[in-house]
Amino acid sequence: MKYYMPVRVFDEKDCVRNHWKELGSLGKKALIVTGKGSAFSNGSFDDIEAALKQADTEYMTFSDVEENPSTDTVLAAAGKAAAEKIDFVIGIGGGSPMDAAKAIALLLKHPGADLQYLYDASKDPSSLPVVCVPTTCGTGSEVTGVSVLTRHDKKTKMSMVHKVFPEFAFIDGKYLSSASHTLIVNSAVDALSHLLESVINRNADDYVRMTAEAGLKLWAKQKDVLTGDKTAGEEEYSLLMRSSCLAGMSIAQSGTSLPHALSYPVTYELGIPHGKAVGCFLPGFLSAAPADERDGLLRLSGFSDLSDFRDFIRRVFGDINIPEDILGRSYEAVRNNPAKMKSASFEVDDEMLRRMVFD
Ligand SMILES: [Fe+2]
Repeated sequence: MKYYMPVRVFDEKDCVRNHWKELGSLGKKALIVTGKGSAFSNGSFDDIEAALKQADTEYMTFSDVEENPSTDTVLAAAGKAAAEKIDFVIGIGGGSPMDAAKAIALLLKHPGADLQYLYDASKDPSSLPVVCVPTTCGTGSEVTGVSVLTRHDKKTKMSMVHKVFPEFAFIDGKYLSSASHTLIVNSAVDALSHLLESVINRNADDYVRMTAEAGLKLWAKQKDVLTGDKTAGEEEYSLLMRSSCLAGMSIAQSGTSLPHALSYPVTYELGIPHGKAVGCFLPGFLSAAPADERDGLLRLSGFSDLSDFRDFIRRVFGDINIPEDILGRSYEAVRNNPAKMKSASFEVDDEMLRRMVFD
């Protein structure tokens, strides 16, 4: 067994402002990477700006990261920042800006690196230091080395081959208080999927179970917020964020499994948000998993059984209709990927995969 989690996590209210010294220790100039909107309205950008000012650290901002960021975007960002003597990169937001920040930090460390560099495992994987400030409760990207990028040339999303773990992760539930209910639901289902896929996984071991089971217990406490049966406050936001972080720590060890792999073509073709797309495939995946393993995990997550879980997915997402041809693309993408076919803790054959996708 091995366990590698090199990110220093600060999980507390106002942690960005509290830890300005650590932030400033990374260099004289930062590149802040965000999406267009929420970082500027939920307080996270203001906190980073204040902490950098206090540390006397300069910064420039790239705020053009789209949902499911493309390799074109990260190359453009690195191109803009190339002449600026950037020492470190700060990703603020959901998975999109954080994943983009990792790829940009890698590109900035290796002037002249191109698209191929991101997908060539023989290249030097070192990067500029990365800091992540999550403002959603799903991706866990703040504690993983993974950067998932959209490849328009391949018409899907693909993880960069290099692992770029952030130096610091600042976890503060207050950034969720201005998020929409839909965003919270989508991202919390993504976190749940990370927790389940990391454990029902051929790479799962006691260390993965440690973080995943702790994450599932916290997730269960906030389940009623997702269905609208409970109103979220400071404590709930903080626990949602923490369970997402624990989920990230879990997939950082074992990786994701079939629901994630199946979801990518659905998101690419239909623009269905990541958490919702993954949620479509979770019931089928759980249905195929060994009953004792599945039922124990579902109970930890606050569900009585698989049908209770199916009801929950239907309740939070409504009916999701995915055309047969797109489902076919998901099926083909996984069937032609031997590593993914073997990623679950149980044997998956063609017929089982077909049922997971089409039933
Ligand atoms: Fe995910």
